[in-house]
Amino acid sequence: MKIVVAKDYEGVSAHAAGIMLEVVRKNPYAVLGLATGTTPLGLYAYMIADHEKKGTSYAHIRTVNLDEYKGLPAAHEQSYAYFMRKNLFDGLDIDPENTNIENGMAADEAAECARYDAILEMLPRDIQLLGLGSNGHIAFNEPGTPFGIGTHVVTLAESTVRDNARLFESIDEVPRKAFTMGIRQIMQAKKILILASGANKADAVYKMARGEVTPDVPASVLQLHPDCILIADRAAAAKL
Ligand code: GLP
Repeated sequence: MKIVVAKDYEGVSAHAAGIMLEVVRKNPYAVLGLATGTTPLGLYAYMIADHEKKGTSYAHIRTVNLDEYKGLPAAHEQSYAYFMRKNLFDGLDIDPENTNIENGMAADEAAECARYDAILEMLPRDIQLLGLGSNGHIAFNEPGTPFGIGTHVVTLAESTVRDNARLFESIDEVPRKAFTMGIRQIMQAKKILILASGANKADAVYKMARGEVTPDVPASVLQLHPDCILIADRAAAAKL
């Protein structure tokens, strides 16, 4: 794992933008694996500003997202589908038809997971962006998830529900289940870019980059990827 330590969140976002935009400019038909959470927001703002000022086009870019809450429709303000439209897609010239995310309202979980597995097979990713859960999760692969499985439905860890409650009106509104891309599929991306910011991520960053590779720390699997870059700010990198 290549490690870049940036001064602060702004530095993380700027460095990440450099890498992401290089992929998009080199291949206008690239497939981007995208993430939600607060960490990628700065990067997404850079991508929109670059599109507006420099005209980088996403007309032929395809995207696949990591995960979606179960039970939230795409129009719900807390859904990850809504998050992506509001924070990235609406600011780019991307065709909504070329963006993919699990359907949180799918009644048949197995069929929805199989549908998403097929999309991931069809669209090999040039780059996969990741955030890091404070308990070491990536996407919604919580500690204990076997490395080998594909898209599946998870019950969120109590700590994840608490972490994500800040984005809801109350903790009771946070969905307890989600669809997520599996770790095997995350690892299939040609390049992985994982971002971490803030002191509350320092333990997880240390375990991910320096600890044992174990399903107890899902992000530790990234040590095995041939082209994974961690960009952390000083606070998140403090224990490295
Ligand atoms: C959620 C998402 C993850 C994200 C993590 C960290 O649980 N499913 O994909 O990486 O939160 O979020 P944040 O970037 O807001 O700290």
